[in-house]
Amino acid sequence: MTDNSSIRRIRIFDTTLRDGEQSPGCSMNLQEKLEVARRLELLRADIIEAGFPVSSPGDMESVKAIAGIIRNSTVAGLCRCLEKDIDAGREALAHAVNPRIHVFLATSPIHMEYKLKMTPDQVVEQAAASVKYARKFCSDVEFSAEDASRSDPDFLCRVFADAIAAGAGTVNIPDTVGYAMPEEFGALVRYVKEHTPGIEKAAISVHVHNDLGLAVANSMAAVAAGVDQIECTVNGIGERAGNASLEEIVMALRVRKDYWHTDTRIDAGQIYTVSRLVSQVTGVKVQPNKAIVGDNAFAHEAGIHQHGVLANRATYEIMTPESVGIPRNRMVLGKHSGRHAFDERLKELGFELDAKTLDEIFAQFKILADKKKVVSDRDIEALVMGVSASVPETWQLNRWVVNCGSSLRSTSTIQLRHRDSSYHEQVSVGDGPIDAAFKAINRIIGKEPVLETYKLDAVTDGEDAQGETIVKITWEERHWNGRGVSTDVVESSIKAYLSAINAMEWEFSAGMVKPKDALQAESR
Ligand code: KIV
Ligand code: ZN
Repeated sequence: MTDNSSIRRIRIFDTTLRDGEQSPGCSMNLQEKLEVARRLELLRADIIEAGFPVSSPGDMESVKAIAGIIRNSTVAGLCRCLEKDIDAGREALAHAVNPRIHVFLATSPIHMEYKLKMTPDQVVEQAAASVKYARKFCSDVEFSAEDASRSDPDFLCRVFADAIAAGAGTVNIPDTVGYAMPEEFGALVRYVKEHTPGIEKAAISVHVHNDLGLAVANSMAAVAAGVDQIECTVNGIGERAGNASLEEIVMALRVRKDYWHTDTRIDAGQIYTVSRLVSQVTGVKVQPNKAIVGDNAFAHEAGIHQHGVLANRATYEIMTPESVGIPRNRMVLGKHSGRHAFDERLKELGFELDAKTLDEIFAQFKILADKKKVVSDRDIEALVMGVSASVPETWQLNRWVVNCGSSLRSTSTIQLRHRDSSYHEQVSVGDGPIDAAFKAINRIIGKEPVLETYKLDAVTDGEDAQGETIVKITWEERHWNGRGVSTDVVESSIKAYLSAINAMEWEFSAGMVKPKDALQAESR
């Protein structure tokens, strides 16, 4: 038994919406970011890093929107140590209940010389000046020493001391390139703790990347060295090989509380739902053997294991699936299932929907249940994600026909309904049925976005499985993701393409993105 009175609390700083979102293939639209932020608040993340406001008008809007809805977590915005960045951060966080301005500047010799072209003295000065400037607008300022693990430890302590003297309440030690070894990283944290004047006035944080697969191990070494905050992402998404995985850190601390005498305030029962949500909105699948949230994390295949688990679950299970929000032994849903059972299942999966959305998803469930014998949780999640996190539809698919074969080019006819209720139809040939369909859509919308990514996968096993398509399109140097689900793979592809087009049209119509011509005119 653990004596809870001696448990130290570690803060969880989630950066899924910033470091996670900025990594290749993980971009989310505004609706999706809001949905993820709401879930992170339910998960009880202490801090939600919502974005990098100065980096784009889209990021500015999303940080503003997230700051406007989150009440029980701190909302952070990332800024370089530049006044224009901090001004953008201040504007984006103006309506946050608990705002945090997070400034960063690199401290390693290689970054200072080649990237910043600054001397160490200039770096110390700029870091302190920026913290001081940020403190004029926000009482909660975090300073991160980018590439800290490859920095000279004494120099790091000097930068931190000046940042704390200027008002930083948290100093962060990132292993930006995932280079550190656990013992070495733990020793660096201890060194900072012991050699930084004024460190007792600030919280110490770590932010670790996974280039050598050691992000969680390094974060845990930092816990042993006494850090106060860990920065991490859901499913470990993030730059290159990703960031430390939130669910692994939280559960390592919780399951082995007897060892760490440390815990977080995270509601672990929300972990599975938020993991699924992040995977759905980014289109980045969770590997089956991923700890905590992978499909196989609680599957016992070997006979000897199954025998043990049947006799006593603790023989092969160190935590229960329920403890991370994965329900066990549920009733199968099919075409005879009623609205009540469906509603209950949605709640178990963590979805609280308004009556109108529920009606819409229930109608889609019935159509699907007519085509499939068993509707799985994955099918239901795919339906919900198709409706709840989507943007208003400028274009809706009304009808489509595609002809394809071996010797002639494919042709397609697509009819779309515009939100002003007009119908638009176009015909196109293409290299294959999908290309022909997408080209017909381009003719209707009058734009030719570049198709960057196209992924088609089955939502579940079995011959009646739904196909899920994820696409990423680029137009005027901006990217949008789209997702479509159908038992017909051509239809799921058309739906995915249209959902990306709708995300793009919506951001343009809401003024979040300006067409390139307008930007050029403004800069003249
Ligand atoms: O990896 C890193 O160093 C970062 C900082 C901005 C905290 O993401
Ligand atoms: Zn990072």
